[in-house]
Amino acid sequence: MGKTVIMDHALISHKIAVLRDEKTGTRDFRIIAGEIAILMSYEVFREMPTVPVKIKTPVAETEERMLSGRKPVIVPILRAGLGMMNGVLEVMPSAKVGHIGLARDEVTHQPREYYCNLPSHMDERIAVITDPMLATGGSAVEAVNLLKERGCRDIRFMCIIAAPEGLETLRTAHPDIDIYVGSLDRKLNENAYIVPGLGDAGDRIFGTE
Ligand code: PRP
Ligand code: URA
Repeated sequence: MGKTVIMDHALISHKIAVLRDEKTGTRDFRIIAGEIAILMSYEVFREMPTVPVKIKTPVAETEERMLSGRKPVIVPILRAGLGMMNGVLEVMPSAKVGHIGLARDEVTHQPREYYCNLPSHMDERIAVITDPMLATGGSAVEAVNLLKERGCRDIRFMCIIAAPEGLETLRTAHPDIDIYVGSLDRKLNENAYIVPGLGDAGDRIFGTE
C-alpha cells in the first residue's frame, strides 16, 4: 500500500492561500506554484535509494550516503503540471522529464490523451507525476496507467489541491503509488471543479481563459 501524505506546513498553507485568491495574477500564480512544488519535493524525495560513499573532509574521513540508481523522471501532466515542473527540478536538477498530455472533456470530465513522450528505462526510474489539481481523479489515474504500461514500479503523484472524490478514485485504482497533496479540499461542484479550489489551474498558470 502506498502512502498518502497531506502536507502540514505553514509555508505551504500560506502559499496555497495566495494561489486561491482570485486577485492573484498569472505572474505571481506561476511563481508561487513553483515555490509550492519546491517545498513539497522535500517530502516527495524523502525516501530515495542511496549507497555508502567515503568522503574526505578537510578534517577527517567519513562514510556518507549519496543517491544511487537511474535518475528519476518528472512527469508533468500537460498543461498545468508544467507549473510545478521547474520547482521539482530545482530540488532534483539531474532528473529526466517526460510529458503526458491529457485534456479533460468539459462535458463528460473524462481525460483524453493527446501526447505522451517518456524517456527510456522507465522501469528503473522513480517517476514523479506533477499536476496541481486532482479533481475527479480521471487524469491522474490515466497518467499512472500510462507509466505502468511502460513498466514503472515506483510512482509518486504530487498535486497542490485534491478533492476527496479524486483522492479516493486514485487510491482505489492505484493502491501502490505514493500520493502527496498540498491541501485536501471540501468537494467537487456540479462542473467537477474543486471547492473551494483555485479555479482552472492551467488557465491561471498560462493566462488563458
Ligand atoms: C486539469 C488539471 C488536471 C485535471 C484534473 O487539466 O490540471 O490535469 O484537469 O481533473 P480530473 O481530476 O477531473 O481529471 P485540464 O484537463 O483542464 O487541462 P489543462 O491543464 O491543459 O488546463
Ligand atoms: N481542473 C482544474 O484546473 N481545476 C479544478 O477545480 C478541476 C479541474
